Amino acid sequence: MTGLRWGVIFVFYLSLVQSSIRKDQEYWKKLSTNELEEALAVKWNLGEAKNVILFIGDGMGPNTVTATRIHKGGEGHRLTYEKFPHIGLLKTYSANKMVPDSTSTATALLCGVKANFYTMGVDASVEHNNCSASLRPEARLESLAALALKAGKSAGFVTTMRVTHATPGPIYAHSASRLWECDSAMPRDSSCKDIGRQLVEDWPGRDLHVILGGGRQGLVAKAQDRPSDPVSAWGCNRSDGRDLITQYIKDKEERGLRHSVVSNTAELKNIDKNTDYLLGIFSNAHMPYEFQRIKDPHGPPSIVEMTEAAIKVLKKNKNGFFLMVEGGNIDMAHHRGRARTAVDESLAMEEAVSMAVNMTSEEDTLIVVTSDHTHTLSINGYPDRGSDIFGTTGPSKFDGLNYTTLTYGVGGPGSNKLKVQIADDQPRIVRTDPDTENTTSFMYEQASAILNDENVHGGGDVAIYARGPYAHLFHNVHEQHYVFHAISYAAKIGAFSKASTQYNNVYICLLTLLLGFMFRMIN
Ligand SMILES: *[C@@H]1O[C@H](CO)[C@@H](O)[C@H](O)[C@H]1NC(C)=O
Ligand SMILES: *[C@@H]1O[C@H](CO)[C@@H](O)[C@H](O)[C@H]1NC(C)=O
Ligand SMILES: *[C@@H]1O[C@H](CO)[C@@H](O)[C@H](O)[C@H]1NC(C)=O
Ligand SMILES: *[C@@H]1O[C@H](CO)[C@@H](O)[C@H](O)[C@H]1NC(C)=O
Ligand SMILES: *[C@@H]1O[C@H](CO)[C@@H](O)[C@H](O)[C@H]1NC(C)=O
Ligand SMILES: [Zn+2]
Repeated sequence: MTGLRWGVIFVFYLSLVQSSIRKDQEYWKKLSTNELEEALAVKWNLGEAKNVILFIGDGMGPNTVTATRIHKGGEGHRLTYEKFPHIGLLKTYSANKMVPDSTSTATALLCGVKANFYTMGVDASVEHNNCSASLRPEARLESLAALALKAGKSAGFVTTMRVTHATPGPIYAHSASRLWECDSAMPRDSSCKDIGRQLVEDWPGRDLHVILGGGRQGLVAKAQDRPSDPVSAWGCNRSDGRDLITQYIKDKEERGLRHSVVSNTAELKNIDKNTDYLLGIFSNAHMPYEFQRIKDPHGPPSIVEMTEAAIKVLKKNKNGFFLMVEGGNIDMAHHRGRARTAVDESLAMEEAVSMAVNMTSEEDTLIVVTSDHTHTLSINGYPDRGSDIFGTTGPSKFDGLNYTTLTYGVGGPGSNKLKVQIADDQPRIVRTDPDTENTTSFMYEQASAILNDENVHGGGDVAIYARGPYAHLFHNVHEQHYVFHAISYAAKIGAFSKASTQYNNVYICLLTLLLGFMFRMIN
C-alpha cells in the first residue's frame, strides 16, 4: 500500500514537473511568436514626413537603456521606443576624436557633417577656439530646423539644459567653442557673437517657434538676482547688461508675431492658444533633475510637459514641423556618477516620447529616438533575474565583498570605494562593502575603475529607434551624421525639398535638350 501510494505521488509529481516545463516553454514560445508576428506585419511607410520629432537622450547609451528598461518593468519589459518598428546603430566618433563631446555629435545629428571636438554648427575646417575660421560663410552649417523653416514648416526645441548648451546650440548657432554661451566667456577682442545672442538676434534662432529649457544666466545680466535659483559655475554669466529675453519680446512685437514668454509650469500650461512663438526659460542654470524638481505650478515643468506644450504650438502649421527634444540630465547625472538619477532622467524622456506618440499620427510623423554618445556605464555579472538593477551582486572572489551591478569605467571622487585600513599595525587597502551603503539612492555614486574629476563619455555605438514615414532608413550601422540626411529625405527638406527636386528635374531636362542640340550640330 505504502509503495503504491508513493508511486502515485511520484507519477503525479512527474506530470506536474512535465506540465510546468511545457508551460515554461510555452511562455517563451508565445513571446517570440508575438515578436515574429509583429516583425512580419511591418510595412514600409513611404509617405512624406510632414512632422519630425528628434529625441536626443544625452549620454543615453545602450546600457543606460537596458538599465532603464529593467528598472521600469523587469528584464522582459519594453520601453515605448523599443516598440518602434525600425532600429539601427550610430557610430559616434567626431571629426577629430574617437570619443566625442556633445556639441560635435549634435552638429553631426542636426547639421549633417562631422565636426571637431567642442565646435558647434561649423564644419571640421574650424578648429576649436578659432573665431575667424568660424566666421567664414562656407564653414557654417544649416540645421534641420533651418531647412524646415525654409520649407514653410515650424521649428523649435525643448531641452532640460541651458538653451545655449551643447546639444541645442547647433540648431541655430555657429561657434568655434561651445563654451562661448555668453559675453563673459568670449575671448578678449573677439569678433564672434556669443551663442545667446545668436539665438535671439540671428537667423534661424529668431524665427524658431519654440525655445524651452534653462539657462537664464546666459541670457540676462540679472540672473544672480534670484537667490532661490542657483547659478552654475560651469556656465557663464551675462555681464554686458543685455537682457536677451526682453530683446526677444521686442523683436516679436516689432514684427507683429503672436508670442508668449513663460518662466514656470503654470504659465506654460496657460499660454494663449494662438501663440506662434513660445519662449520658456525656467531656471538660471540647467533645469533641475526630475527627482529634485519642485512639482507645483510655480516650479519648472517636466520634459513631458515641455514636449506637450511644444507640440501644441508647432502643430498649428499645416505644413508641419521639426522639433528636437533633449533629455540632457541623463548625461549630467552620468557625469556625476549617479546611475540611479541617470536612469530616472532616461525614464522621464521615455514618457516624453510616449507623449509625442500620443499627440501625433504614425502616418505623417517621423519620430526618431537616439543618443549623442554613451557613458562608461557597465552592467556586471551575475545578478539573478528580477534583482534590483541598483543592487549588488557577487561576491568578488578577490576580497569576498559584493559589488554593485552598475559601475563606471572612469569616475569622479565619489566613485572611489577604496580606503586604507590598519590591521596589526599593517596598512591594507580595502574596499567599502556596498551592502553597507544605500546603492539605490539618487545620490549614490557607483564605483569606477579609474579616478578622475568626473565621469567621462564612452565611445560605443548608440541605438537609433524610428517610426513613421521612412523610418526604415534606419536599418544598419550608420554614421551619426547620416541621421540629418535621412530625416531631410523623409521630410523632403533641404537637398530633398520639392522645390530643389523640381529645379533639378528642369535642369536635367534643359541639359538633355542642349546635348541633343549639340549632337545635331556636330552631325
Ligand atoms: C584660424 O583659421 C584661419 C582660417 O581658417 C587660419 O588662417 C588661421 O591660421 C587659424 N588660426 C589659428 C591660430 O590656427
Ligand atoms: C557666475 O556668477 C556666480 C554668482 O555670482 C558665480 O558664483 C560664478 O562663479 C559666475 N560664473 C562665472 C563663469 O563667472
Ligand atoms: C499615451 O497613451 C497611452 C495609451 O493610452 C497611455 O498609457 C500613456 O500614459 C500615454 N502617455 C502619456 C505621456 O500621456
Ligand atoms: C552578497 O549578496 C548576497 C545576495 O544578496 C548576500 O546573500 C550576501 O550576504 C552578500 N555578501 C556580503 C559579503 O555581503
Ligand atoms: C535609499 O534610497 C532610496 C532612494 O532615494 C530611498 O527610497 C530609501 O529609503 C533609502 N534607503 C535607506 C535605507 O535609507
Ligand atoms: Zn557630457
